[in-house]
Order: sequence, then C-alpha cells, then structure tokens
Amino acid sequence: QEAPPPISESQLHKIASSLEMYVDELPQMPKLYGYSINNATTVFAFGTSPAAATFPGPTIEAMHGVPLSVTWENHLPETHILPLDPTIPVATPKHGGVPTVVHLHGGIHPSTSDGHPYAWFTKDYRETGPNWTHPTYTYPNVQHSGNLWYHDHALGLTRVNLLAGLLGAYVIRDPALDSKLNLPSGPEYDRHLVVVDRSFYNDGWIFINRTGDNPTIHPQWQPEYFGDAIIVNGKAWPYLKVSKRKYRFRIINSSNARFFRFALSNGQSFIQVGSDASYLPAPVETKNILLAPAEIADVVIDFSKTKSKEIVLTNSAPYPFPSGSTPDSLNSKVMKFILKPEAQSPPDYSQVPSVLMPYTTPTIVKAARTRYIVLYEYDSATGNPTHLFINGKQFADPVTETPKSGTTEIWYVINLTNDNHPLHIHLATFQAIRVQEIKNLSAFTSCMTSKNDALACNITSHVVGKTLEIPAYEKTWKNTVKMVPGYQTTIVVQFNLVDNHSPYPFDATAGPGYVYHCHILDHEDNEMIRPLKLVA
Ligand code: C2O
Ligand code: CU
Repeated sequence: QEAPPPISESQLHKIASSLEMYVDELPQMPKLYGYSINNATTVFAFGTSPAAATFPGPTIEAMHGVPLSVTWENHLPETHILPLDPTIPVATPKHGGVPTVVHLHGGIHPSTSDGHPYAWFTKDYRETGPNWTHPTYTYPNVQHSGNLWYHDHALGLTRVNLLAGLLGAYVIRDPALDSKLNLPSGPEYDRHLVVVDRSFYNDGWIFINRTGDNPTIHPQWQPEYFGDAIIVNGKAWPYLKVSKRKYRFRIINSSNARFFRFALSNGQSFIQVGSDASYLPAPVETKNILLAPAEIADVVIDFSKTKSKEIVLTNSAPYPFPSGSTPDSLNSKVMKFILKPEAQSPPDYSQVPSVLMPYTTPTIVKAARTRYIVLYEYDSATGNPTHLFINGKQFADPVTETPKSGTTEIWYVINLTNDNHPLHIHLATFQAIRVQEIKNLSAFTSCMTSKNDALACNITSHVVGKTLEIPAYEKTWKNTVKMVPGYQTTIVVQFNLVDNHSPYPFDATAGPGYVYHCHILDHEDNEMIRPLKLVA
C-alpha cells in the first residue's frame, strides 16, 4: 500500500460530512456461525475464517460455568494497513508480518491466556514474542453474566491494530441469573452497540495521521486518535427501528481515545443496570452517561411512553477529555432510534428489577496494603507530549506492583496530567471511593519529577482540595475507571476475586503475569502501561 497524498483537517471533515446520517439500519452483531460480507473499508478483523471475518468481530457467546477454548490464529498480511512508529517500544518481527495477540477484557483467567503484550505472534506462529506460550487460550467463564470484549494487545501496536478493526464483543450468559432478573432479552431486544470514531479517505480507507505532532521525536505516534465519523456496529451513524417497549443495550466504547457523554435527544433517561462486567447494585436512572474508552454501559431504554417518532443518541464529551474541542455537528451524533407505530409493538414481559446484585461494598479496612500510582506526561520543548509514564517508569522496567492473589489493596492514583485517563487493571475489579483535588499541583509535580516518591513529596498535605461526587452509575466493581486530571482517585482493588467473593482456584501467580494501563490506546502504546504480577 503506497502512502496516500497528504490530506487536511478540513478535507477530512468534508469527507465525513459527505456521509449521510441515519441511512443505515443498526446491524445485528454477527454471531459465531459467521457469514461473509464485502466492506468498502479495508479492515483487520476477527472471524472463524478469513472469509468470515467482520468488523466488529463475531460476538462470542459464552455460558457461565462452561470453559471456552479459543485458538487464536494470525492471518494478517505481511505489512500493516496503517502507519507504525518504531520510536515507541513495539513488537518487531525480524521476518515481517503483523504481530498480534488477543486479550479478553474483563476476564478472569490464567496469565498464559491473558494476551500479554509480549505474547504476540505473527502468521503461523512463525515468530513469537518473549512471553508467548501457546496458541489456544482458555476462558473459564466463572463470572456471573455480563459484558466483556476482546481485542488486540500487541506491544506498541494496540492503537493501530484496534483502529484497523481487531475488536469484538464477548458476553457471558447465566440462564439462572438472567431469567431471575428478567431484563429485556432475545436478539431483537437485547443488543450490543459497539461504538468507535474513525476518519476515512474518499475511497473508504481508514485515515490516521502519517506524521506525528512531533515528528523529530515520534515520526508517526500522536497523543490521541480522533475520527470525524461515529461508527456503531461497523456502520456510520446507523438507525434502529424500535418497538414501543423496553430494550437492553450493551454499549461498548471501543474508541482509541474518544470519550462519549451519551444522552437521548428527547430528554428521556437511560436506566443503567451494569457498568463494565458487573451489574449495579440497583438500577440507576440517568439522563447522561460518560463513557471512556473501554468502559461498558449496560442500559435499558424504555420506549413505551416515548412521544417522539425519532430519537437521536447524542454525544457531548469534549475531545481530548475533558478540556478539548466540543463535539461538532458530526461527532455529536451517534445513531438514531426510529419508533414503530404502537400497533406493531408486541407485549413486553421484561422488567427492570429494583435490586440487581448484592455485592460487598468497598472498604478501606480490609486492604492488605496501599500503593501510590502516579500518572505523568513528558512534554518536548514545543509542548507536545513525547511519552506518558506510570510512576516515572517504562513498561520494561522491573515489576513493582506484586499483589497477593485474592487480596484487596488501596491504590491512590494521582493524575499529574491535563487529561482524564481511563485506568484498566487486568484480573482485578475495583471502584473509586474518593476523588479529591490536589492543591499546589505544580509544586507537588516538580517534587515528583525529582524525587518520584509521593510520600517523600508529602502527598497527604496536598490532597486537601474539593472532592467530586462519583456518579451512581459507576458505583460497582469495574475494570476501567476514569482518573480526573489534577485529582487523587482512591480505588479499592480486588485481585482475582470472582464476583467479588472468592478467588478463582487457578494459579494466578504462574506465567508471564498481567498488566495495568491507561486505555487511551495511544497512551498505552507510548508507555502508560506497567506489568502486574500476582504472588502467593
Ligand atoms: Cu482492554 Cu489491557 O485491555
Ligand atoms: Cu491516558
């Protein structure tokens, strides 16, 4: 693929605005039996065979308590369809090919099945990374029903491999629990909405800057990818015809860097029932939902009393979040619901129960230990970010986070940057219990830059500012939590606990270990990622 000619922001905007909104019906997510479709856009995609591959990949339907094995093969071409950057730590096979490895996001499984960034492999396993062990991954599915997703996790390639299309939904069903809850169900009323932003060239090819903002340091890497078009289940701004009844939507933000603040144009509320892979303790009614990359909102929308004939699912989150541009006429819209006439609506026997899941509440007292996790951004002389680190360390530096399997820890996450970072911890579930402003941030930051030790820099004397309310729809055991800039977020982290009560009896200490990272993929690739190793 020859490099296309340069293209300006305004041309890109023009191309995206030439796409007519709401001409496509929201597609059903393809299931694992697979079928072939012809895409105008060349993608990297998952499927049961190269011919059956789709974007997003097939939704993997798993059953609670039934272990599932997946043999991940690599049929990607010799060269990437998107530009790469050799100046960040990146999987670099000697004999060509595009490295990949697959991570099941939100899954509780052995580290040899976790898709470690160094466990990448090229076509036919011709070359493998240092942490590669075997082609077949096992997912025990010991968790209660809920929402996961799977995606590429190759070292330094995650942002381009997901941008190219290597992602899909994964759902655990649990017939006993699901029938007890009796939320809207069945393929028509229980739908995935996999949302991403992308820009395109005129011929449909995916657009990404070929030159970084700071090309003398990083020839291609840029701090965040943002696209003009909003894509749901593989279609730009689709519509869905809905009956006058309740629907369940499992909304996954699979974007590289875009946050969404979803709302419904007629002002009606969502009823949120789950966040990431967990249920909420009780349903939460909310008019808007802020969803960072990798977060999942499991919502019910009740159209039974809706007066409007059409409702637009809108977005108002600035990009970068929170202090970037306001969404424009394109990326402020996501998709449209078109209401069918009353007469066409069959009876609705589903419900939203008043109690969903009685989890243990997070508490500071059981913590086996506390840690300070500091998020830094390093800028060049021109003010462009050059790389992002956690605790001032590179990914390849020796592991420092070594929790005991089955224990709870308190992490004080200190965000010294201007961006909100969605922190994702593999094998853990966690929730924020306090979000408090750091006073004299610049003094603290300069102390940290020289000493790199939050206690030596007197962190407790700085965390004295105002506290923020944690939205009710986030008060559950999540796997990705947003870290507010200039604030310390206290999180209670449980390692390797199934449904927050008992450790799953595999040896979580074996194998290459896990990782935790910012889920803005451009940050993750330029080292806002650290190893995580469980110990006995
Ligand atoms: Cu969704 Cu480590 O990733
Ligand atoms: Cu980040």
